[in-house]
Amino acid sequence: MQTPNETIPFRPTDIHSLRDFLLHQRRMSGWTQEELSERSGVSVRTIRNLETGSNINPRRSSVSLLLSAFGATASALDKGAPAESGGWPAPVPHPETERPAADSGPPPWYGPRPLPAPLVGRQADLRHLLGAVQRGRLVVLTGPGGVGKTRLALAAAARLLPLFQDGVAVAELHDCPPEHLDPVRAASELHRITGDLVRSDISTREDAGMRRQLLVLDSAEHVVQQTARVVRGLLDAHPGLHVLVTSRRTMAVSAAETWEVEPLDTGMPARGESAVPSAVELFLRRVQASLPTLDLSSRLPLVRELCALLDGIPLAIELAAGRLRSLPLTSLLDDDTLFHLLARVDAGDLSRHRTLSSSVRWSYELLPTPHRDLLHRLTALPRTFSLDDALTIPGPDDTARAPHVAHLLAELADASLVQIHRERQYNYRVPSLVRHFVTEVAEPAQEDAWCAVG
Ligand SMILES: Nc1ncnc2c1ncn2[C@@H]1O[C@H](COP(=O)(O)OP(=O)(O)OP(=O)(O)O)[C@@H](O)[C@H]1O
Ligand SMILES: [Mg+2]
Repeated sequence: MQTPNETIPFRPTDIHSLRDFLLHQRRMSGWTQEELSERSGVSVRTIRNLETGSNINPRRSSVSLLLSAFGATASALDKGAPAESGGWPAPVPHPETERPAADSGPPPWYGPRPLPAPLVGRQADLRHLLGAVQRGRLVVLTGPGGVGKTRLALAAAARLLPLFQDGVAVAELHDCPPEHLDPVRAASELHRITGDLVRSDISTREDAGMRRQLLVLDSAEHVVQQTARVVRGLLDAHPGLHVLVTSRRTMAVSAAETWEVEPLDTGMPARGESAVPSAVELFLRRVQASLPTLDLSSRLPLVRELCALLDGIPLAIELAAGRLRSLPLTSLLDDDTLFHLLARVDAGDLSRHRTLSSSVRWSYELLPTPHRDLLHRLTALPRTFSLDDALTIPGPDDTARAPHVAHLLAELADASLVQIHRERQYNYRVPSLVRHFVTEVAEPAQEDAWCAVG
């Protein structure tokens, strides 16, 4: 059996077919090489070399990813280009929107599909993830609420679909009961969900090596320990299974690869570069979709400022773009007004995405009381603070104090409620959305609750 990174022994006619196919489909889609690279996760250099004919030995995985970006499979190559002027058929729908054919075409997709709207930015994340899921069998995507973990995981899974002949299965874990409230029911619910999705016929060892499936477990932050246990069992039982988990909280599983999803870029482009930061691009795309006549091209610095206030969090950027229907851009640029406005905007279909407050509340309510109390106290420190600053928080003066504060701080960072800047000295920051929720919305935790060693 060929492994994903083996090269395909193309005959010259095949490589010409591939080159023609790529050129034709890319032209029909109106994509640049950079855009195709972004959608497929294959480097611009590989695409350029394939199109110019200087690479005649492409990796099998690169070909599959490129075909998948056009919603095609290897069989598309066999058809050859029609001789008449009609040329190749129009591109088939992208796999993110496509339903698999019954017996040919791409492998099956079970569960929620990615949105058809383009993914903004994230080229480096996608490239890393595509490699990580092929290299390792368990990859965990972490990051704060609304940062784009689900979006990225589904986009990566759509591109990886051709490499998993038994398909991709996606399970949303949000409805599992939180494990700290009911670990037994959380575990049985996880077993039920994953049992339904992982094909039972890949459990025989002879077959198992030949069969390949990708399981995406979305939103595991409230069931991380049970998920780790269930996933370990699944990976042992099914050697062809790869698992991609999204979770606001990190998961301690040996041999798992963790990838932190950072907020979208809000910085200024380097001198001479025309590209707008990805956070600004997302804002402009959302405004364009809801208010096509509003031209913000002369006000990009203000848009950038707004995206920076929102810490580059896509969910917040989408909600702010929606507010522009009724309020001018300048009115959103005041910190306090902005968060008050956005805290109440109702824009999602999942309960935790209905408002920014409910998004942060979901993480906050998973915290034990001492952690909540410390989070409140951290908001009184300078915006960016060090561990030494955190140790100045008043409390009992005993030897257990410093390690206790450090432990709680680390757990808040593990839950993506505190951001870390890892330089020689680590600096910490309570993100703006969390800060607003903690200071304006949440009830203060019981006084000095943080001192309780749990
Ligand atoms: N790179 C992106 N391009 C376009 N839209 C994005 C991007 N990243 C996120 N979004 C949009 O932002 C919103 C929040 O993203 P998403 O649901 O993936 O966040 P999340 O990290 O999974 O949040 P949660 O922790 O609540 O599950 C969604 O509407 C999503 O479509
Ligand atoms: Mg999510």
